[in-house]
Parts: sequence; C-alpha cells; structure tokens
Amino acid sequence: MRKYSDREIRAFGLDPAGIPKHIAIVMDGNGRWATAKGLPRGAGHRAGVNALRDIIRFTSDVGAESLTIYAFSTENRKRPKEEIGILCGLLIEYFNREIDELHENGVRIKSIGDLSWFPTAVQETVRAAEEKTAQNPGLKLNIALNYGGRAELVRAMKLAFSKTDEPDEDAISRNLYTADSGDVDLLIRTGGDVRISNFLLWQSAYAELYFTDVKWPDFTREELIKALKDFASRDRRFGGLKTNGAK
Ligand code: IPE
Ligand code: IPE
Ligand code: MG
Repeated sequence: MRKYSDREIRAFGLDPAGIPKHIAIVMDGNGRWATAKGLPRGAGHRAGVNALRDIIRFTSDVGAESLTIYAFSTENRKRPKEEIGILCGLLIEYFNREIDELHENGVRIKSIGDLSWFPTAVQETVRAAEEKTAQNPGLKLNIALNYGGRAELVRAMKLAFSKTDEPDEDAISRNLYTADSGDVDLLIRTGGDVRISNFLLWQSAYAELYFTDVKWPDFTREELIKALKDFASRDRRFGGLKTNGAK
C-alpha cells in the first residue's frame, strides 16, 4: 500500500478533497453470488474475503481515515451452525494470511461487537491482530463481528450513565465502539437490498447512503470508485442550506 498523490487521485476521476473520512460497508450478497454459480454458500464467503483485500488497500491509499466493515451481525447468529463454522474458519484464515501486510502498511485493526460469543480460537486470533496493530497510524479498520447497532447503543448508554447522570450526545458518541472513527460519511451496501440491517445506527445519522446490486465478491475497486464519485456529487446540507456543490 502506498498513499496516492492528489494527481493520482484525480486520475481516478476523484477529488482529493471529496474523499469520505469514514466509509462503512455492508458486505452483502456472498450467498447469492455462490448460488448463482451453482456453488455452496461457503464458496461465496471465501470469494467475499478475497474481495476485501483490494478494497482495504484502495480505501487506505486514497486517503480515507476509517473503514468499518460488517462481517457478522448479531442477527447472523440465527444462521445454520455449519455456515457459522465456515465463517469462523475463514476469519481465522483471513487474519493469519493478511495480518503481516496490514501491519506493515500501518493499518490499525479493531473489532467491534461482542467477540466473547465466538469460539476461543476466533477471539484469540482477532485479539492478537488488534494488539499487534494497536499503535499503527494508518487506516482505522473496524471489523464488525457479532455486531448490532442496537446492542452497541445499549452498551454505550450504560457506559455513559455509569459516568454521568445526564449524558449528552457527545457522551454517547464517546462510548461507541467506533468512538475514534466518528460519524460515517459514506455507507455502502452491496447485494441489492436497500436496508441498514442494524449497522452503525447512531454513526450513520447523516451518512450518505449508496446501494448497489453488485454482490460483495464482485465489488472491485472500480465499483468503489463509482461509489466515491457518487458521494462527491452529493450536496451534504446537514439540515442547513445548500452549500453550492461543496461537500
Ligand atoms: C453477507 O453475505 C455475509 C454475511 C452476512 C456473513 P450473505 O451470506 O448475507 O449473502 P446473501 O445475502 O445470502 O446473498
Ligand atoms: C447484513 O447482511 C450483515 C452482514 C453483511 C454481515 P444480512 O444478509 O445478514 O442482512 P439481511 O438479513 O439481509 O438484513
Ligand atoms: Mg445477506
């Protein structure tokens, strides 16, 4: 990984000043991708993990500060044991394979969600990756694992109330898993469904939403560039008045 210069960013058709600070992705459609090819769902998850590599790289190189990816929701616990087992195996394999390169490139890994639900081997692998990369200065990569937006809010509110009787919005924000990544600027969902599925409910209050039919394993950097261009074209008013095209 190497940060792109402004000139290189412009060569992708992007404006260096219009890159979202915090990108979040609901990586959906792995199962349908596999089924459409006559493959087992697990093959879709494997292809999905492979797609992640270049997206992380590009997000970092183009200068975004945070990337939060939805890997496993609290609701995904309803899935068959066999599929959950496959996902856990892929998770361990992913960290073992990618951790050195991510570390060398200064990526800071953080899991968000209740990791304690996972088998010990998953917990240990993820914790080791977090510890190894904790001091890194580069992209903040938040991986949502057994994550739910509502559960996160309950947790944040409990923590905030344990410190003060009258927490304000900042106090809640400070107690979210993603406190140091701040609000989401661009929320992408692949796979064709137009919903949030309990992801980053508080952080996405003013996110720009981007939905695509492309299934996650097919989401290449070209697709991400499309989403970034779309983002740059939005007039973010935050309830105020038109900002004359400025982001
Ligand atoms: C997203 O792909 C990955 C996880 C939820 C773990 P899906 O497994 O939901 O794929 P579809 O939506 O069934 O195609
Ligand atoms: C959202 O996808 C969760 C992840 C991508 C990890 P789902 O496939 O679980 O969401 P629904 O069931 O379509 O809402
Ligand atoms: Mg799905």
